Amino acid sequence: MVSYKELGLVNTREMFAKAVAGGYAIPAFNFNNMEQLQAIIQAAAETKSPVILQVSKGARNYANSTLLRYMAEGAVAYAKELGWEHPQICLHLDHGDSFELCKDCVDMGFSSVMIDASSLPYEENIALSKKVADYAHQYDVTVEAELGVLAGVEDEVAAEESHYTRPEEVIDFATRTGCDSLAISVGTSHGAYKFKPEQCTRDPKTGKLVPPPLAFDVLHEIEKKLPGFPIVLHGSSSVPQEYVDMCNQYGGNLPNAIGIPEEQLREAAKSAVCKINIDSDSRLAMTGAIRKHLAENPGHFDPRQYLKPAREEMKKMYIHKIINVLGSDGKAE
Ligand code: G3H
Ligand code: 13P
Ligand code: ZN
Repeated sequence: MVSYKELGLVNTREMFAKAVAGGYAIPAFNFNNMEQLQAIIQAAAETKSPVILQVSKGARNYANSTLLRYMAEGAVAYAKELGWEHPQICLHLDHGDSFELCKDCVDMGFSSVMIDASSLPYEENIALSKKVADYAHQYDVTVEAELGVLAGVEDEVAAEESHYTRPEEVIDFATRTGCDSLAISVGTSHGAYKFKPEQCTRDPKTGKLVPPPLAFDVLHEIEKKLPGFPIVLHGSSSVPQEYVDMCNQYGGNLPNAIGIPEEQLREAAKSAVCKINIDSDSRLAMTGAIRKHLAENPGHFDPRQYLKPAREEMKKMYIHKIINVLGSDGKAE
């Protein structure tokens, strides 16, 4: 049993309380490899932004769970080396799908876990989320639970159709589970294809597809029911057109990739939404930069040659999100 406190990590309690009061959101960026982690920490250190490092079950399988945990521990030391005196870094399990997985993460030094039982019937979701919260809270690890179903694929849980979180359920759910934050469904979804073109309208000036807006009415109703309670938005990549174009221009094939407009995320960050999850944008930035580099430098075969510009592109993207979308810069001086 390792406590995250010994590793210099923090849980989400204080960062969320400040974010809700201050009208901004904490970035939750997924990482699977060293370059993503370096870019996240460099961006957070430069902007002095609190940050949540997210590890999914898939990331643990890909990179090895022990190695990822030690990388997060190393991230705290790296942040200090970069001149960030008091780094506020949380290590969070993204979309935990069982008690055992959540327990394993608590026991190995995670400071926060998500139990995603949103695909289960309501009472079963409550029972499993409560079991995880009861265990995690013994170690002062914070817990995110989810109510409502996002469209698309939630890790290995495929949701054919999304259904928005029902505001009339949130008080009962939060009270009975004891969760510290609540992930809700208000129109976001995972991946780079969040909307079908037929769900969108076309901007007559630019010709670009405009997705339907998020259900802000549902979000505000939830806020009214749970004043000050931390709300989480998953599936919040904006799928920047420049990265989609970069991928497509250099051999990729990502037709009609479309995300959540950043203005809507900025709007959500001003509300009780205090954690915004971004993974796909990092994948697009990395892949776009690698494709471009290799297309322009066909003789390169040292991975450092193409991973360096990929890391730079991700860092630029993370800094942009922190400053211009979430507003969390300067909140961890
Ligand atoms: O919500 C899903 C995250 O983007 C993690 O995705 O399960 O492919 O690592 P993954
Ligand atoms: P995106 O696929 O929109 O980046 O969402 C990531 C996410 O919700 C991770 O939990
Ligand atoms: Zn998610």
